[in-house]
Amino acid sequence: MNPPKKSIRDIDLDGRKVLVRVDFNVPLDKDRNVVDDTRIKGALPTIEYLVDHGAQPILVSHLGRPKGQLVESLRMTPVGKRLSELLGKPVVTLKESIGPRAREAIEKNPDSVILLENVRFYPGEKENSPDFARELAGLADIYVNDAFGTSHRAHASTVGVAQKMPAVMGLLVEKELETLGGLLESPEHPFVAVLGGNKVSDKLGVIDSLLEVADTIMTGGGMCFTIIKSMGLEIGQSIVEEDQVEQISQTMKRARKKSVRVIVPIDFVVADRFDVNASSKIVPTESIPQGWMGLDIGPATVEKYCQILKEARTIFWNGPMGVFEWPKFENGTKSVAGCIASSDATSIVGGGDSDAALHNFGLAGRMSFLSTGGGAAMRLLEGKKLPAVEVLMDQ
Ligand code: 3PG
Repeated sequence: MNPPKKSIRDIDLDGRKVLVRVDFNVPLDKDRNVVDDTRIKGALPTIEYLVDHGAQPILVSHLGRPKGQLVESLRMTPVGKRLSELLGKPVVTLKESIGPRAREAIEKNPDSVILLENVRFYPGEKENSPDFARELAGLADIYVNDAFGTSHRAHASTVGVAQKMPAVMGLLVEKELETLGGLLESPEHPFVAVLGGNKVSDKLGVIDSLLEVADTIMTGGGMCFTIIKSMGLEIGQSIVEEDQVEQISQTMKRARKKSVRVIVPIDFVVADRFDVNASSKIVPTESIPQGWMGLDIGPATVEKYCQILKEARTIFWNGPMGVFEWPKFENGTKSVAGCIASSDATSIVGGGDSDAALHNFGLAGRMSFLSTGGGAAMRLLEGKKLPAVEVLMDQ
C-alpha cells in the first residue's frame, strides 16, 4: 500500500461516535439464520477496540443486492442477532440507515453498539450520492473502513462518506492489506498458487501478478479448460472461454520466459451432462471424450498437486477445483484443501467460493489466513487500487 493509511490506532477515539463500514454481506438460510459468520467475526477486533477506547461504534453494511429498495428478506435483523451473540452484549439494530429516527436511536443508546439498516435499501448508496453520503457522515464524528470485501466498490458508504469526515482504516482492513500485500512483496519460496473457478478471464490479472513472484501456478476448475484448449488439446463439452484462448496462450509464453511453471490437470472426472446425477468416469486429460465435460480434477492430478504443495513455503489458493457442491465432483477441491490444510506453508485463501468450500469441508480454521474479500482480494492481487482504501487519510 502506497502511501500507508492511518488506522484506528492512530487517532483519539474517546467519547467519539464512529461510523464503521463493515462487510456483513453474509449468506442466510431459508429461515434467515446466518450460515457463515466469518465476516462478522472478522469485524469483532475493530468493534471491541472502539468500545475499549471509549468510542460508540455505529455499524453500516449492505446485505445482498436490493437495488435501492427496501426488501424485507434483506433486513439486517439476523445479522444484528448473530453479532450480539458473538460480542456477548446487546446490539441495537435499526430499521433505517439515515434520518431523524436513526439519529435519535444513536443519541438514546450512547453505550450500545448500533447496527444501521441495509445501506443498499437507499438508491444513493450505489450512486455514491453526495447528499446520501452527507446524511451518513452526519451520524458520527469519525469514519472507519473495516469492510475489506467491499473496498473495491466506490459507493456512498465506502468512498463518499470518507471524503466528508476524518477517515481511517479498521483492524480487519489493515490485516488484509498487510497479508495480501505481503504475498506479492516478500513471499517465502517455493511459492505455489492454486487457481480454480469458472472463468480464466477473471484470473488473468492475478496470473500476471503471480508471474512476478510465484514459482508454480497449478490450475483446476472450469478455467483450466481454456488453458488446455490453448495447448491444442480436445476438451469435449467442457466449459471454455473461446475469446480468451489467444490471451491465455500469450500468458503461458510469458510464464515460460519467467520460468514460472503453470500446470494443468493430468486427469479429470468427466460427466455426460451437467447434472448432480450425471454418469461420470476418470480419464486422462488427452482423452476427454466427445460430448463429455470435465467437472473435477482426477485422482492422479490430486496426487501430483499435493506433492507440490508439500514442498511449498507459501500457498495462495483461489477458486474450487471442480463442482464441489455435488458429491460426485467434490473430491478434487476437498483433497487439495486437505493438502493445503496439512502443509507447513503459510496458506492464504482469496475468499469467495474457496472460502465456501473450506467451510463446507470443515477446513476453514486450518488455513493461515482466509481473506474476507473475494472481488476485493483479487483486485488487490492484480495490483489495482481499492477506492475505499485510497480515500482514507495518509499516515
Ligand atoms: C462481496 O460479497 O463480494 C462483497 O460484499 C461485495 O458485494 P457486491 O459484489 O454485491 O458489491
